[in-house]
Amino acid sequence: MSDSPAANSPAPEVPAKTMEQIVALCRRRGFVFQSSEIYGGINGFWDYGPLGTELKRNLKNAWWQDVVQRELIGPHGEPIDVVGLDCTIIMNPKVWEASGHVGGFSDPMVDCRETKQRYRADHLVVLGAVEAGARLWAFVEGDDAGRAKAIKGICKYEKRDALDAARHIVRPYPTVPADERARIVGPDATEVGTLTEPRQFNLMFKTLVGAVEDPGNYSYLRPETAQGIFVNFQNVMDSTRVKIPFGIAQIGKAFRNEVTPRNFTFRSREFEQMEIEFFIHPSEAATWYAWWRDWRFSWWQSIGLTSANLQLREHDRDELAHYAKEGAGTSDIEYRFPFTAPGYGELEGVAHRSDFDLRAHATASGKNDKAKHFDQARNERYFPHVIEPSAGADRGTLALLCEAYTPDPSRPSGVFMKFNPRMAPVKAGIFPLVNKDGMPEIGEKLFRTLRKKHVVEFDEKQSIGKRYARMDEAGTPFCITIDSESLTAQTVTVRHRDTQQQEKLAIDAVPAWLDAHIGTDS
Ligand code: GAP
Repeated sequence: MSDSPAANSPAPEVPAKTMEQIVALCRRRGFVFQSSEIYGGINGFWDYGPLGTELKRNLKNAWWQDVVQRELIGPHGEPIDVVGLDCTIIMNPKVWEASGHVGGFSDPMVDCRETKQRYRADHLVVLGAVEAGARLWAFVEGDDAGRAKAIKGICKYEKRDALDAARHIVRPYPTVPADERARIVGPDATEVGTLTEPRQFNLMFKTLVGAVEDPGNYSYLRPETAQGIFVNFQNVMDSTRVKIPFGIAQIGKAFRNEVTPRNFTFRSREFEQMEIEFFIHPSEAATWYAWWRDWRFSWWQSIGLTSANLQLREHDRDELAHYAKEGAGTSDIEYRFPFTAPGYGELEGVAHRSDFDLRAHATASGKNDKAKHFDQARNERYFPHVIEPSAGADRGTLALLCEAYTPDPSRPSGVFMKFNPRMAPVKAGIFPLVNKDGMPEIGEKLFRTLRKKHVVEFDEKQSIGKRYARMDEAGTPFCITIDSESLTAQTVTVRHRDTQQQEKLAIDAVPAWLDAHIGTDS
């Protein structure tokens, strides 16, 4: 679950774009809105507007196509099998007891008695003098304004002009001894000693199933899609012809009552996951782990995230989740978001979950004997091990948005969204140059042909420059203009978003040309 910024390679140059600019464009152009905005919103929940919905759908479709539908050649040079599943969000609560989520899916939480704010203890740091008895100031790691407030507080309290680098140090909040915590001023507080002791807070949303308010009728909204796959493992084996090694993939909503949702959609309370549980013989864990890790890393590049903004980070032993302790490894594929730069934030985790989940459900459900898989090829009975590449669809969409945002003062829009054509919400804009001489009719005919396969827009309003600017902000890779030569020579002018260069094409050639230039989602 770690998404702490890490930097084990030299950070490339920080791009000149801010989250404020990206969030403003998302709202203005209908990529992402605050959920329930007219009622003041609700913290940790986000809606996708028309453009954002297409973008996220393109990401999920590309993942599904590349993971489940297309041929994928594994580490042994053979095509591998991955089949799909679509499970419920609410499951029998016993699932979450067996998986360890009821007992252990929690984050340490600290409350402020003065401001009623709540913080993740492991996200708080404390700045102050090293000597015992000194007054200390807490702020959320990475929050520059919080850090500035802490420095101001120290200088005012100690009557100094600046910090003393030898005495004033930053420490993680959990490492500050309990008796010194009474001297801490909370991030939003004015008084000392108002932060409570950290206590564990379970992240699962509880919900009542049925009409009767009985403790036995409560269940949870799933915090990961993975468990639906594990409890259906035998059903899939029995109903299909898959054999180990094979994978089960699922895309769906997950819910976590995050203590401090933040950074736009990055840490939300409702989000979507794209998860693969890949079942293997235990002896092959290292091979499959490395293969999935590397393939997933290159996949993100194939849909437009540049390698300069991506890194693979192998987990330290003490970071490993409960199910991965004895495994071949766990790594995060991380993206350098504007709010983590020069560090990185987690986009996807690839973990060797061992046989933890299948074994736990076999024991808890009492189906131990049946659950052990009999491998005919090996003539062996065993619990398969699992390699799990688990990606966030919302974090992936956010990374695509951050990557695409390209300031360009020379354009009327001042910015364009440089999406990989396969991800672009709108593939082409079709514009009659003027609203007469038969141009709108030719444009509409082309529009109707192209929309059979692609999301395209027909726009006959305003100047051609304004229409280009709208499409630049939407990230549309191609604009196709019907001009006077469309009438005489049956050609159109195609304008390329990134270079702004134009080329002539025969009208009849446009559908095949667009298919070829959009890549593999047709
Ligand atoms: N089944 C394994 C699992 O759930 P995880 O690292 O907790 O592992 C997987 O979550 C992915 O789900 C993360 O890499 C991230 O992309 C996404 N994710 C997790 N918590 C999230 C949140 N609060 N908001 C948005 N995305 C989240």
